[in-house]
Amino acid sequence: MGVTYIPVARADELEPGERKAVELNGRALVVARLEDDYFAFSRYCPHESADLMNGPILAGKVRCDNHGYCFDLSSGECLLPKGADPLTVLPVEERGEELCIRIEW
Ligand code: FES
Repeated sequence: MGVTYIPVARADELEPGERKAVELNGRALVVARLEDDYFAFSRYCPHESADLMNGPILAGKVRCDNHGYCFDLSSGECLLPKGADPLTVLPVEERGEELCIRIEW
């Protein structure tokens, strides 16, 4: 198994509570910082593709403003309504001066 780290932002770029839209191999993602934790997730809701860039994030979950679906940012699981299609989430970590998406292949 191989691991690749793809830089998507500078490590000091995001303050707690901030997020950034990034593109990775043509896919739109959001990288968000909550306190000292970082999350990366698909920018578009798996329900009907609403933009999650401004969806409220609270306690490690993002809520889609369109129909109110709520997703766990660690697992991608749809918590409300339970069992709906999950949100794509990717591991993101600080590596030196960069914030990187970790891809395993
Ligand atoms: S488009 Fe996001 S909940 Fe419907």
